[in-house]
Amino acid sequence: MSSLSSQDQLKAMAAEKAVQLIEPQSWVGVGTGSTVNFFIDALAQSGLPIKGTVSSSEASSQRLKALGVPVFPIEQVPVLDVYVDGADEIDHHGFMIKGGGAALTREKILAAQANSFICIVDQSKWVQTLGVFPLPLEIIPMAAPKLIERFKAMGAQASVRLKDGHPLITDNQQHILDVRGLQITDPLAFETQVNQWPGVITVGVFANQRASVCLLASPEGVKTIEF
Ligand code: A5P
Repeated sequence: MSSLSSQDQLKAMAAEKAVQLIEPQSWVGVGTGSTVNFFIDALAQSGLPIKGTVSSSEASSQRLKALGVPVFPIEQVPVLDVYVDGADEIDHHGFMIKGGGAALTREKILAAQANSFICIVDQSKWVQTLGVFPLPLEIIPMAAPKLIERFKAMGAQASVRLKDGHPLITDNQQHILDVRGLQITDPLAFETQVNQWPGVITVGVFANQRASVCLLASPEGVKTIEF
């Protein structure tokens, strides 16, 4: 672990703690991102006997399979015992911004089918008010101009996420809008409102699917915060 950056060491600490909380013979939902990659590695290394995993992205599925961890389609696993994922921001209610890795739609589907959501983060993700991290939305591409206008009317700036100069294409073949300049003081109301705008597939505020537990890693150790 010593070759890791200090932030990666914290991510790995939170991830290892999450593995300790998984019960044997569980169905485990697996999120996406650099923190979750540490979780996948630690889960594989633990040898914990689980029933299997359901993954939120092609990237996580590939990593799980490469390490010999079984991955099942969500249709075969109607209830997940636990869902483990990172976040871009999390507040003291367990409300989160997610989607920095563009996997938010599948992440929200898995979170909604899980009995509990363990959020694993380093201390940089802990915030008082959501919105400093640009809010991702997965959208139908043709809706982008109108959605950008709607956010402008709220005083925020939205733009289509690019990759190599072209709109990034998600695992669901759609686009991502990133919104800067928001202060999300009522995440439940905001999620409900923006979810209703035509063309929005998923808003990256996870308030209805908030975390049950946050494992917050700092140089002092991993704090368990229950919501
Ligand atoms: C993926 O779409 C996101 O929701 C991730 O959970 C989030 O971006 C955290 O990623 P890192 O662990 O890489 O910071």
